[in-house]
Amino acid sequence: MEELAKHSPRWWDSGYADHNVSCMGGPSPEIFEIAPALRAESVIVELGCGEGRNALYLAQFGHQIFATDISEAAISKLKRLASHLGVNITSGVAAVEDFQPPAYLDVFIAHSVLHFTERTVWKPLVTALIDRTQPGGFHCFTNTLERPDHPIPKEGLAAGHKKSFARGELEAIYAEAGWEILRSDYYIKWDSHPGIPIHSHCLEKVVVRRPIGAEDLPPMRAEPIKAAGMIPPKQFDTLKLGTPRDAIIEMFGSPPASHGVATTRKTVGGNNQEAIADGYMREDMIYGDHGLQFVDGMLTGKYRYFTPPKRLSIREA
Ligand SMILES: C[S@@+](CC[C@H](N)C(=O)[O-])C[C@H]1O[C@@H](n2cnc3c(N)ncnc32)[C@H](O)[C@@H]1O
Repeated sequence: MEELAKHSPRWWDSGYADHNVSCMGGPSPEIFEIAPALRAESVIVELGCGEGRNALYLAQFGHQIFATDISEAAISKLKRLASHLGVNITSGVAAVEDFQPPAYLDVFIAHSVLHFTERTVWKPLVTALIDRTQPGGFHCFTNTLERPDHPIPKEGLAAGHKKSFARGELEAIYAEAGWEILRSDYYIKWDSHPGIPIHSHCLEKVVVRRPIGAEDLPPMRAEPIKAAGMIPPKQFDTLKLGTPRDAIIEMFGSPPASHGVATTRKTVGGNNQEAIADGYMREDMIYGDHGLQFVDGMLTGKYRYFTPPKRLSIREA
């Protein structure tokens, strides 16, 4: 598989071609977070959906999902996984550049894809989607950004990264439109995927919501995840993925709180090893400005935050 990744301009191709692994891991945490606040039978659009980790999770709640990706291997894997999980997703091979937004929608997801398009593509698309999103609907973005101290990695450039986002640009568009900015996190993440050992990128994660208006939908709030003391930078740099959670607590102590999500249904596997998991536990622990992500008690990702890491939950009355 490493051979394949070496020869492919897109590092995810080998992971999509292998139906036994999960190339991108389980659903992204903000997808778990917004799921309880969605209107029944929401219309959900995901572009650049890859093998479908987010779409497949949300489909289990009976929403109407439309998911596309430019990669045939991704969509063929998504279809297989959907059939295995017994969920319905309308999916197809398509480029973001050719996407025609539906008349209305509740959720738009673009996870690590829009930076492969020019600003002249994503900006008019976002404007159209803002107009067509129902009250209480969400838009969720994750984009890789260039920083002077953290250039776009070579595998990102080889895959066609366009450097078309500046930090804060999305947030400004949504603030101007009067939407609620729930999360706007800025960080560097180190993780690994089948076919690509450890790599790192600087990311922006933006979750925004159209005001609920008179709708009977639950309001949400973002709270910082409580942090423990520091991990000395040298120790952070050498911390190996796969380290057990207990060993980390022994080294750095136990943070006052963690943010955990336990999947109780079958879903895309969380640790990049298995395509489908019967259920797994994902946990994020924060030490100073460092974050550690665990799946079933093993370290699967490391973060360095420039903004306080947050979690979203339903705001009780
Ligand atoms: C880093 S992967 C993320 C996949 C998925 N969103 C996830 O988070 O698991 C980037 C995805 O964007 C897709 N992609 C890249 N350029 C695209 C484009 N112009 N139109 C549609 N999909 C694109 C790739 O095929 C790939 O599946």
